Amino acid sequence: MVDALDDAVPLPGGRITKKVVRIADTVRRPASAASPFVADLLGLLEKRGFTGAPRCLGRDDVGRDIFSYVPGWVPPRFQQWTDTQVAAAGALVRDMHDATRGSLLAGRHQVVCHNDLGPNNTVFQDGHPVAFIDFDTAAPGSPLEDLGYMAWVWCVSSKAEAPPVEVQAAQVRVLVDAYGLGGPEREVLVDAMLERQSRNARFWAEVQADPGDVEVSREQVAERIAWSRREHAHTVGNRRVFESALS
Ligand SMILES: Nc1ncnc2c1ncn2[C@@H]1O[C@H](COP(=O)(O)OP(=O)(O)O)[C@@H](O)[C@H]1O
Ligand SMILES: [Mg+2]
Repeated sequence: MVDALDDAVPLPGGRITKKVVRIADTVRRPASAASPFVADLLGLLEKRGFTGAPRCLGRDDVGRDIFSYVPGWVPPRFQQWTDTQVAAAGALVRDMHDATRGSLLAGRHQVVCHNDLGPNNTVFQDGHPVAFIDFDTAAPGSPLEDLGYMAWVWCVSSKAEAPPVEVQAAQVRVLVDAYGLGGPEREVLVDAMLERQSRNARFWAEVQADPGDVEVSREQVAERIAWSRREHAHTVGNRRVFESALS
C-alpha cells in the first residue's frame, strides 16, 4: 500500500488554515472545533442532493479531516467576474441554502450559511463556479449573511481600477436576481454588506491581537483590516447607487 503521507501535495492559496494537502482524490485538513458541524452539514447537503460541495470522508490516522477533492480552479485572489460567473455563484448558493432549510442543523434559523463564500472558496470548472469549499465558518443564519458578503467580495471594490460603481451595483443585482432574493430582503442587502465588511475588519483585528494558528503575516493582517474599512467607506459613500440598482 502507498504511504499516503509521501504523496501529499500542499494546497496553498487558502487564507487561514495551515497544512491543507491533497492526497490522490482527497483533501486533508487539520481537524478543528468546527469539524463535527462541517461533517454533519456536508452529509446533509449530500443527502439532499446538493452536488456543489466536497463530501466528508471521515478522519485519517493522523487526525486530519478527509474531504473529496473537487477538480477545477480555485482563484487565489479577488478579481473582476463576468455577470454569467456571478449569476452561477448566486444560483449555487441558493441551491445550497435550500438544501439546509427546515433541517436540524438550521434549527430556528432560515438556512445554514457558509459565511465565507468568496471566490477563494469556490471551485470553478470551465470558467464557472461549480462548488464551494472550506465550510469551517458555517453556521445557522439568514441568507443575507452569505449574500451580503458575496455581493461585496464578488461584485464590489473600492480599488481605482475597478469598474464604475454603477456597474458594480448592476452586478450586485445580477447576484440577487440569480439567487431569487425577495423584495424585503433586497431592501436590507446594503446593510448586510456593511455588516459583513465591519465583521471582517473585527475578525482580522482579533487575529492581530491574538494570531493563534492563523498563518498570515502581521503586514497582511493589517492590510486586510485597512482594506475592509476602505470597502466599508466605499459602500457607505455609494449607498444610494447600490440601493437604486436593487429596487
Ligand atoms: N475539497 C477541495 N477540493 C479542491 N480543492 C480544495 C478543496 N479543499 C481545499 N482545496 C484547496 O486548498 C486551498 C486551501 O483550502 P481551504 O479549505 O480553503 O483552507 P483555508 O482555510 O486556508 O482557506 C483552497 O484554496 C483550494 O485551492
Ligand atoms: Mg479557504
